[in-house]
Amino acid sequence: MKPLIAPSILAADFANMQRDIEMLNRSEADWIHVDVMDGVFVPNISFGFPVINAVKKYATKPLDVHLMIVDPDRYLKAFKDAGADGIMVHYEACTHLHRTIQAIKDLGCRAGVALNPHTNVSLLEDIITDVEQVCIMSVNPGFGGQKFIDNTYKKIKQLRTLAEYHNPELYIEIDGGVDVKNAAKLIEAGANVLVAGSSVFSSEDQLEAISALKNSVPLREV
Ligand code: DX5
Ligand code: ZN
Repeated sequence: MKPLIAPSILAADFANMQRDIEMLNRSEADWIHVDVMDGVFVPNISFGFPVINAVKKYATKPLDVHLMIVDPDRYLKAFKDAGADGIMVHYEACTHLHRTIQAIKDLGCRAGVALNPHTNVSLLEDIITDVEQVCIMSVNPGFGGQKFIDNTYKKIKQLRTLAEYHNPELYIEIDGGVDVKNAAKLIEAGANVLVAGSSVFSSEDQLEAISALKNSVPLREV
């Protein structure tokens, strides 16, 4: 099985968003990854509802919304209304994660949880059957273009083992520093969704960069 590819529009040209979204529509990308940062949970601010509305207007692919914000419960419906198909909240930002996940599902969105690099995957054991997607951050969230953290491979294998037992359909997404050089190893470790910002948008041939990620392996079924 080929991985799903979710290019992150954090690295797109914001002055040419329509052009970049139309490129993604034509590409082999499966989802469009949308990074929302509040300047509190992470030390950076990205964009909010008006931008997501504009993206949704042109996107023909589902929006995979990654909330790097504190107290996401306050805004779940607003993100759904802005066009989110999947919503991921951070484990570290949710005191009542189970309730938050149920709220995302009640809105009809795919429910996911993202883990910071220092957060152990074993902490998901009591929520893994409730979520449809886990995002393992392979950089500290907040910025595009950072260096991939090698400890991620170990975490993917641990999560894959947990998922085989509790939730084999789980989407295991990797976010941060993903490129064509590490994609194969990530899939081999058990990932099935790859987010890529800089490696796609800084490429001279963005369609080719997405295609290279999409076809970067499948050594085995995941
Ligand atoms: C980081 C964001 C990522 C980011 C990935 O906080 O969650 O989705 O856009 O960008 P690259 O692929 O450049 O590391
Ligand atoms: Zn992200």
